[in-house]
Amino acid sequence: TRVAILFGGRSAEHDVSRASAANIFRSLDASRYAVTLIGITPEGRWVLADAVNARTAQALTVPPDGPQIVLLPAGQGRALVLGDGAAAPRELTFDVIFPVLHGPNGEDGTMQGALELADVAYVGARVMGSAAAMDKDVAKRLLRDAGLPIVPFVTMTAAAPVSYEDAVHAVGCSELFIKPANLGSSVGISKARTPQEFAAACDLALRFDGKILIERCISPVREIECAVLEHADGEVKASELGEIVPASSHGFYSYAAKYTDASGASLHVPAQVEPGLAQRIRKMATEVFGVLCCESLARVDFFVHGEEVYVNEVNTLPGFTNISMYPKMWEATGLPQPALMDALIAHALA
Ligand code: ADP
Ligand code: DAL
Ligand code: MG
Repeated sequence: TRVAILFGGRSAEHDVSRASAANIFRSLDASRYAVTLIGITPEGRWVLADAVNARTAQALTVPPDGPQIVLLPAGQGRALVLGDGAAAPRELTFDVIFPVLHGPNGEDGTMQGALELADVAYVGARVMGSAAAMDKDVAKRLLRDAGLPIVPFVTMTAAAPVSYEDAVHAVGCSELFIKPANLGSSVGISKARTPQEFAAACDLALRFDGKILIERCISPVREIECAVLEHADGEVKASELGEIVPASSHGFYSYAAKYTDASGASLHVPAQVEPGLAQRIRKMATEVFGVLCCESLARVDFFVHGEEVYVNEVNTLPGFTNISMYPKMWEATGLPQPALMDALIAHALA
């Protein structure tokens, strides 16, 4: 099977994608898959990347001046590698595309729309599920409509600002979390307890998105995650749960706690959760998957506060770095990563 991995991308999560793609590339059985690596620069140019040195890399490299690749509309997986002007374009063909992209322009339905137009099979949710899960404001409204528990929030734009006092009143708590509506990896997220912190937090989040969310801070909080996988026959399964315990020095599960500080968080898979509660969360995870029109895969993240469970967010292309929870949770459920890759590709080709 000829697989093209897309990685990098025009997103603040570009570097996370490079690390996820390295891990996915390594776990694809080389005797079954012929893999082409296509890097997407931070400006959005598609370039052919080096597969020879990629096997041992921690993160794949997007060569900024690499040969440009164009995926043909309605091409059923045909792409052109453009020459340097002297050489004629060369054709490449793929059976399936694995968009290992996080955040805007990759995980939000835009890339999925382009792949639909290209008429090529691809891994992951299609346009609707990708878009609905990416936008935290839209996702929460859909979840609330389905009767699923979410953290109280208000939405704000630069054009319609909300004061600290009004936000506190709306969510019922003076400690707030402020985050861009469409992003991930904790980019642009901060906590605020005063009007001054609130103003700074809103300014930061608005640098990444025109729409931001202000949420009640759940404290103390346990961060519990569940991996959901849809098999080629349509059966949707929820994994064993995982728990993330950010180091207290980070305050919450920030970008640094996730990716730059090796001791930024401890990960527990499976999570030590009372069986009744675990069962409830796993059932909720598959419900969330359905409500948000997810397909193929998603990681559903929860906040647990005493007996209360809140759905926090859903990632339709969750992190796949060597510390990432999605593959770890399937591993703990008896599905090692190479078999997980087979299942995802089989679903895409079904
Ligand atoms: P991202 O999509 O960037 O991962 P999240 O909504 O998952 O955004 O927030 C990132 C992290 O910030 C969470 O894992 C958690 O540590 C913290 N956090 C976010 N919202 C809240 C909240 N309402 N209460 C407590 N902690 C929060
Ligand atoms: N958005 C990142 C990659 C994650 O949540 O896994
Ligand atoms: Mg998150």
